[in-house]
Amino acid sequence: MNQIGWAAVAPPTWFDDLSLDELRARRSVKWRRYPDDVLPAWVAELDFPLAAPVHRALLDAVARDDTGYAYADGLAAAFAGFAASRWRWEVDPLRTLLVADIMSGVGELLRTLTAPGDGIVVNPPVYPPFFRMVREVGRELVEVPLDSGWRLDLDALEAAFAAGARCYLLCSPHNPTGTVHSRGELAAVAGLAERHDVLVISDEVHAPMTLPGAAHVPYLAVGPENGLALVSASKAWNVPGLKCALAIAASDRMTEALRRLPEHVPFHAGHFGVLANTAAFADGGQWLDGLVAHLDAQRDRAAELLAAELPDVRHVRPEAGYLVWLDCRELDLGDDPSEVFLERGRVALSPGLPFGAQGKGFARLNVGTSGALLAEAVSRMRSALDG
Ligand SMILES: Cc1ncc(COP(=O)(O)O)c(C=O)c1O
Repeated sequence: MNQIGWAAVAPPTWFDDLSLDELRARRSVKWRRYPDDVLPAWVAELDFPLAAPVHRALLDAVARDDTGYAYADGLAAAFAGFAASRWRWEVDPLRTLLVADIMSGVGELLRTLTAPGDGIVVNPPVYPPFFRMVREVGRELVEVPLDSGWRLDLDALEAAFAAGARCYLLCSPHNPTGTVHSRGELAAVAGLAERHDVLVISDEVHAPMTLPGAAHVPYLAVGPENGLALVSASKAWNVPGLKCALAIAASDRMTEALRRLPEHVPFHAGHFGVLANTAAFADGGQWLDGLVAHLDAQRDRAAELLAAELPDVRHVRPEAGYLVWLDCRELDLGDDPSEVFLERGRVALSPGLPFGAQGKGFARLNVGTSGALLAEAVSRMRSALDG
């Protein structure tokens, strides 16, 4: 099914049928970082049971004692099938490279394809590891904030490119605002990048979760020469701990560039990650449709709950994904409202400041859970204001 059909899918009720006790038995960072009296609504992990094809692929591998090194056979073809049916984007499997995850892919690409001190453009507020990775590889951060409507500021991007930035780390869809960039915006980016010879690396990890009313346009589908995309099933099918992503080149020149990455890069990917990603892209479409329908309902619930319980909190209605960017400045809780929600309400949100200076007084709420647990999270936020 393509995006046009998504709105017609009713969310299966089992996305709402979660047991907090079972979730607390998980050993992932979301459920372990805080004490058991804290409800976690921070890091981008989903609370749902795995998609059946992913679950089966992993159980089958364990049953075979199949725990060796990853072999990417079939992964790129599975992604190409997914991209063609969802986005009418033709991906040539020969133009791809297996990487361990999105962020290590970003790091390897920056190390190999840019030089120390090169300016790398990011659009704050943005996923905090973007800042960390640019610093880690010794490049210069060039901040071009989103505009006041949380969209790309094309004039400011042009100015940054003209001033000598060498690379642009695009977040598409954007985390934390859930902004889905339009075809026109992306075509404009491609034009500017070509004119100023800027390499664009497009992180599209949230794209499978584009919600009804918006349409994801793969950056490489707008026809740039000088572009790379990073994709993974890690967010939409909740397999980030298994370690697998694909880098995809826009052109022969970029394919050559991918081949210049160190030979060991694909070996950092996890075998279970490759198996899970392949199953998700090949057979996880129906589950994804259910997820998207549920997340569509969750963003409405979030809007209603926030309006009723925290009317002074403004939020950005996400066009993709399950992260809701909350403007808490009216609450007067200081630079980091998440600290107050945690200490007084026992609910853990992501603090806004690591997303950039624009995140002062903001927090990010993860709604990738059941309606009941979302209601509990908002109620705990509300209770933090009573104390
Ligand atoms: C925009 C974005 N990129 C990358 C990642 C992390 O992906 P990975 O674990 O594959 O590095 C996330 C995780 O939330 C994200 O939101």
